[in-house]
Amino acid sequence: MISTKEYITNNSIENDYSKSISMEHRKKFAQFFTPFSIASLMAKWILGNNNLKTVLEPAFGLGIFSRAILSLKEDLYIKGFEVDATIYEKAKQNFEGNEDINIHLQDYMYNDWDNKYDGIICNPPYFKFHDYDNKNIIKEIETNLKCKLNGFTNLYTLFLLKSIHQLSPNGRCAYIVPSEFLNSDYGKLVKTYLIKNKALRHIIVINFEENVFDDALTTASIILCANDSSTDRVQFSNIHSLQELSKIENIITDYPNFTDTEQTYRLSELNPAVKWKSYYQKQNSIRFKDLVPFSTYAKVVRGIATGSNVYFTFNISKAKEFSIGEQHLLPCICSAKDANRTFFTTQDFEDLRRSDETIFLFNAQNSTEQSIKNYIQKGVDEGINKRFLTASRTPWYSLEKRKPAPIWVSVFNRTGLRFIRNEANISNLTSYHCIYPRQTNLLSEIDIDLLFAYLLTDTAKQIFDDNSRQYGNGLQKFEPNDINKGMMLDIGLLDKRAVKRILDLYKEYKNLILDNKNGDEIIDIIDKILIDKYGTEEHYNYHKTAKPLNTYI
Ligand SMILES: C[S@@+](CC[C@H](N)C(=O)[O-])C[C@H]1O[C@@H](n2cnc3c(N)ncnc32)[C@H](O)[C@@H]1O
Repeated sequence: MISTKEYITNNSIENDYSKSISMEHRKKFAQFFTPFSIASLMAKWILGNNNLKTVLEPAFGLGIFSRAILSLKEDLYIKGFEVDATIYEKAKQNFEGNEDINIHLQDYMYNDWDNKYDGIICNPPYFKFHDYDNKNIIKEIETNLKCKLNGFTNLYTLFLLKSIHQLSPNGRCAYIVPSEFLNSDYGKLVKTYLIKNKALRHIIVINFEENVFDDALTTASIILCANDSSTDRVQFSNIHSLQELSKIENIITDYPNFTDTEQTYRLSELNPAVKWKSYYQKQNSIRFKDLVPFSTYAKVVRGIATGSNVYFTFNISKAKEFSIGEQHLLPCICSAKDANRTFFTTQDFEDLRRSDETIFLFNAQNSTEQSIKNYIQKGVDEGINKRFLTASRTPWYSLEKRKPAPIWVSVFNRTGLRFIRNEANISNLTSYHCIYPRQTNLLSEIDIDLLFAYLLTDTAKQIFDDNSRQYGNGLQKFEPNDINKGMMLDIGLLDKRAVKRILDLYKEYKNLILDNKNGDEIIDIIDKILIDKYGTEEHYNYHKTAKPLNTYI
């Protein structure tokens, strides 16, 4: 056996490999490597099993976890799985001469189901779900684990579920995965399994300013499981910087006790149906009273998906080139950058049209004109009619039916949600979601402006934040349902005087914006009116201010 000193306890092997191989190859196999400092902490959790003899590394790569474990303890039997022959050969060379390490050039998901291990440690591959054969793998898991999963379930959670299933009594498992499943719809059944299986102990959410994995746009979580009966509790922790990693060390040494009891829950208290960020992030909504679901006042749906933007979108030059008259073109905002102010007016639309921007969609059902027929034929020649979305429409070139929405909201955001009042009454593609106010007794037509004024405030954004999905680098994504199910202040409870004051301020704000001036101060006043009415004790404690005596109305 080679001696302890020979294991490389840093990322130099991974760095050399990354330099020697194309990004395309690494992306194909999801080869993003774990920083050694994190691998080493995860190894310590595994080593907390005093009877550790057998270890599994299901997504081996260059064996960073095996190196971390072996540098702390020898006399272990380690098995690894890896599907990429290139990295596999390099890994084999690195561990040459160590007979206790067996790396298999095989897909982990379809092999080794009958074996159990004292320790399993992994940074599984993360793919967009389209990029792998999820159907068969999900079937494999459902059969072996006798559980039900959602068809969108991401591969990395399937790795995790299989590994938990392969733990021997008192076995320990450490995974580093994107946090996405904790807060997304497909994660619900994964979380159900984690609760039922009872091995989940710690979820450590890493939310660094910088990405842990250089190129992967995700925030990560470390999941620690133990197949023992020492506790029925799960703790959520947040780590914001590399310096805070020592917190994890304490968590591991203290087990089965918990360093502090904050954010600690009994397994039976966890609800798989809610976003788990409510267990690890302070919710903004607790600072306000009289909240209702956003769907009480409005409905959010995604924008028009064409199936081929290159084919369906037009600017004036393209329309001339193909002799398509404007009666066959639907005015539509096609790119988020084209609506960069809070109000999108008919004048903005005219300006874009004059500068030949792409702001139309091909919309030519029931036309007998030859130029239209030619353009449809061009689509057929290019196979546009056989695309996933177009193939399911009749005729294939018809557009999804969506009325222009009076309010748009951007899908991806760095600084909270961005709402736009669509005064030009035009359609939108998927870079914005459509917001349609509900026509209820509570909210008549005119009050779209009241709703919009509310949406512009910081309070609205903070409350929605509770429901966003977080990516790395501060990028947030909101699906239509994240907003529909998000909460808002019940603006129907505002008295007439407050409504009038808000609408007056809103008018003032709009004039400033249309005049290319800054209106932030006016929105701040609207916000203060709302806080005055809806802010709870928590709000003033949080901001360490006293409730003001004067009101803003
Ligand atoms: C995210 S990398 C992690 C590598 C290494 N363990 C680390 O943490 O630095 C995932 C590795 O799993 C491999 N892989 C991808 N799909 C796999 C599968 N189905 N079975 C086994 N390995 C797989 C990839 O080639 C890649 O080397």
